[in-house]
Amino acid sequence: MSSATTKTELTSAHTSDWLTTLEYDKATASEVASSVSDIVRDRGVVRVSCFPGDAAELIGFVNHVGDPLEYYGGDTGSHPDQPAVWRVRYEHEASLRGDTHALDGPLSVHSSQSLLEPRPRYFCMLMVNPGWQDNAPGLNGESLLAPWARAFESLDHEHVAYRDIRDTLLAPMRYPDGTIRALAYDLPDARSQYDYGIRLKSDLESYLRESRPASVDFDAVRTFAQAAQRTALSVQLAAGDLIVVDNNRWGHGRQSVIGRRGDGAGLMHTNPRELWSLTLK
Ligand SMILES: [Fe+2]
Repeated sequence: MSSATTKTELTSAHTSDWLTTLEYDKATASEVASSVSDIVRDRGVVRVSCFPGDAAELIGFVNHVGDPLEYYGGDTGSHPDQPAVWRVRYEHEASLRGDTHALDGPLSVHSSQSLLEPRPRYFCMLMVNPGWQDNAPGLNGESLLAPWARAFESLDHEHVAYRDIRDTLLAPMRYPDGTIRALAYDLPDARSQYDYGIRLKSDLESYLRESRPASVDFDAVRTFAQAAQRTALSVQLAAGDLIVVDNNRWGHGRQSVIGRRGDGAGLMHTNPRELWSLTLK
């Protein structure tokens, strides 16, 4: 496989062997991308290290894997030169307005483009600047990657009502935009009894809590989301780490990010953390 190297890194407290890392090499980008596609098909996730913070190069690379969605065009979070790239970084003024790209705090695991049909196949994120890394564990913006099958398997072992929960998630329910759709869906190449596609919208649980708190839908979504959060794998990405995940089988989120802090001399500083994300058909 040319000069790209493969190594397995142990970065999760939950398991020791889930993340394969390839080293980026511009000269053999199409071969590295081919390995990315193979590994994501087999394992659901891959990391490419040493990727430059260059949005055009990122688009050029992921074009070997899939077709980038340009759905962020015109939004304040989109990259000025590459509208398919969404820049996630803390911005104080924008966070006060509630702009999702600019917030601090944690992000529960969710799917990319949960309302889109057919489902986009890949979600990608490139850590451009990991920002402050000297806070307590869980406050450094550690990335969460959630294999949905692990959540189902965990529920099966813990809940006598597992099948009812699963069947509720496979049945149509009302989403925050008013459409009716199922959170879980069958995959044509399902590999186990727990292997379903998932479209978990980040505000679905809060929407159901407010609109139908006594419903079986809310109970099932909350139970599933809690299991997914509990069984998620955590990895602290370094600058230049590009993650590609199977967007049907894996969710993504992050642990908490501190947006601003004082330096003891009365000056406030903004966390320079910046992550670029994009979604591929
Ligand atoms: Fe997301």
